[in-house]
Amino acid sequence: MSGAGSKKVAVVAGDGIGPEVVESALAVLDAVGAQFERVPVEIGLARWKRTGQAMSNEDLEGLKECDCILFGAIGTPPDPNYKSALLRIRKELDLYANIRPFQSQDLDFIIVRENTEGLYSGLEEVGVEESHTMRVITRRGSERIAEKACDLAACRRMLTIIHKSNVLRSDRLFLESCRAVAARRGVLSEDMLVDAAAYNLVVNPKRFDVLVTTNLFGDILSDEAAGVIGSLGLCASANLGDARALFEPIHGSAPDIAGKGIANPVGAIRSAAMMMEWLGEPEKARRMEAAVQNALACGAKTPDLGGSCGTADVTRAVVEYLKAF
Ligand code: NAD
Ligand code: IPM
Ligand code: MN
Repeated sequence: MSGAGSKKVAVVAGDGIGPEVVESALAVLDAVGAQFERVPVEIGLARWKRTGQAMSNEDLEGLKECDCILFGAIGTPPDPNYKSALLRIRKELDLYANIRPFQSQDLDFIIVRENTEGLYSGLEEVGVEESHTMRVITRRGSERIAEKACDLAACRRMLTIIHKSNVLRSDRLFLESCRAVAARRGVLSEDMLVDAAAYNLVVNPKRFDVLVTTNLFGDILSDEAAGVIGSLGLCASANLGDARALFEPIHGSAPDIAGKGIANPVGAIRSAAMMMEWLGEPEKARRMEAAVQNALACGAKTPDLGGSCGTADVTRAVVEYLKAF
């Protein structure tokens, strides 16, 4: 892929702390010399309050016309019939691989979460006395997420396939498909039940390297993993399809701290770094990560990490490092 210079990036700041952390990520992208056209798109709760719609069909088409999307976080409207705009984007752009790296001083593992099926199928029957959600696992969906996980695991230690096949027969297909892909790719693999994985993530996180799992398990395990490395505010993600991508911190709109200027911007900055890597600018991505690590090491920490810095202080520390080195 050519450099980011001629690229168009849709910027969805969203709600709550979304705009606060996206502003920070954009400042860091400026400081690292990232060049691309920014296309602001309003999606989310504020938009729903204003227009009765969180995202229009035109917005979705607009997103498809951009090279990729930089996303903050959006809130959920208090409407029982609301279907998540973010899930619609993931599904309609076929962003099937949610890559969530977790790094701290002594930990380094990646959760690869299937992003389009499982319990997020959208196939639901809602009644007063009984409601059903269909869990969909397909061979194609399982194989393609396993391929993405193997791309990562091939140059690392091993792959752990996380499932609940002792209870869910649908997970036998997931497990069998992932095992077959790992064997064909020559990737060392093991498997683990999701409840045991949740336990091991807390008591022995170092044992993990690349984890691959289904949609809801991946959602829950990633917030747990964020707790293990220190804060939800540190963690980034890439939602990848074969030709499209969306980059976002793994946290939500955090209404409890929104507007206070204390949101940790690191997850959003790291998401922007993942975007630069995907746009073909790995050196800029590397510098952004080095700047984040330096800022944290120098004590530029928001309250979620026990510090007393604001979002703007952390951003400034990252930007100053980039200007100096
Ligand atoms: P959340 O992730 O917004 O917050 C959980 C906890 O983590 C809160 O205490 C919050 O203050 C803290 N936190 C999150 N990000 C932080 C940051 N950058 N710095 C410091 N602290 C941070 O989860 P929630 O409160 O359950 O959800 C709030 C809203 O966000 C809901 O409407 C939910 O649907 C939505 N949500 C959106 C996304 C997304 O847009 N990608 C992801 C998750 C949740
Ligand atoms: C995430 C979020 C989303 C999910 C919600 C907001 C739909 O929790 O990206 O982790 O469940 O995937
Ligand atoms: Mn989540």
